[in-house]
Amino acid sequence: MAIAASTGPQHAAILGIGTYRPSRVIPNADVVDAIDSSDEWIQQRSGIRQRRWATPEETVQMMSVAAARTALERAGIDARQIDCVIVATVTHMLQTPAIATAIAHELGTDQAAAFDISAACAGFCHGLALASDIVRGGSAGYALVIGVERLSELTDIGDRGTAFIFADGAGAVVVGPSDEPGIGPVVWGSDGEQFDLIRQREDWRDVVVSEKPEMPHLIMQGNAVFRWASFAMAKTGQQALDRAGVSLDELDVFVPHQANMRITDAMARAMKLPERVKIARDIADQGNTSAASIPLALDRMIEEGDARSGDTALLIAFGAGLAYAAQVVTVP
Ligand code: UT7
Repeated sequence: MAIAASTGPQHAAILGIGTYRPSRVIPNADVVDAIDSSDEWIQQRSGIRQRRWATPEETVQMMSVAAARTALERAGIDARQIDCVIVATVTHMLQTPAIATAIAHELGTDQAAAFDISAACAGFCHGLALASDIVRGGSAGYALVIGVERLSELTDIGDRGTAFIFADGAGAVVVGPSDEPGIGPVVWGSDGEQFDLIRQREDWRDVVVSEKPEMPHLIMQGNAVFRWASFAMAKTGQQALDRAGVSLDELDVFVPHQANMRITDAMARAMKLPERVKIARDIADQGNTSAASIPLALDRMIEEGDARSGDTALLIAFGAGLAYAAQVVTVP
């Protein structure tokens, strides 16, 4: 007896994108006192001028639903056509169930498959790779990928290495069938030898038995991550271009994870990106939003006219794990 194989369309693409930026704008001036820093130092070392932190009402679910509704509207797709919802996040505070199920329900999908993935700052590109394969494999007609974080909740405002970096927000894309390939082959991987470079300070069991329970904030050996990201990720980006069969001359837009403006510049230099390639610089006003940073940055470029529908964009995401993923996409 042979089991029937699932089959799908030959190609998939991003059909629509939407984002949600929290309402609270936090300038550097508001974070410097607690970490004995300065606006000048933060701008020089990270490129960040201000970030956005969520209010209590701006939950992971609320921000996700808002971003997803815009993405659906722009894609011209009804929520009931979505068969799979993938949420990339590390700041949904319940171990189980996945927040994706609540989001799928609130959006009004018809009981879409829904699950969360944990790949930190690389989460969006992991989700995009999955969605592309899920659509092309015939497991879903349309899939929704959401990158969402509320990192302010896991950030120690007194920690010099992280307090000025992390921020909140959400970005979503609808992935569906396409006549042409719109999402290139993913180049992804992990380096677990560097597991400890970015992590939650302790696990919840240690928090529970501690005499003075505190939120297990994120800690980061920033300089080691900085050096790794600046060099290793340029190679990953080049591999993603090679696998997609796209030359540097054909590339229009570069959207790296918004970790640090200096990392973005170092990667662009190492990859020898031509001057005319537009580079995402959303971090300046948004901070580092981990899984949300790439869709947030791409959406801003579209809004500001730096990325146009049909442009070819290289996405590179990297972070805790260390986990990374890159692919070439067509701008919706
Ligand atoms: O999203 C996930 C992936 N994350 C990343 O990719 C983050 C990567 N890392 C970074 O972005 C950077 O490492 C930081 C922005 C976090 C730090 O910049 P850095 O250039 O690596 O600084 P550093 O840690 O090497 O510190 C340089 C100096 C030190 O002083 P001395 O020893 O040179 O006198 C620090 O004590 O800056 C000092 N310093 C600060 N000064 C003012 C460290 N933190 C601060 C601070 N304000 N917040």
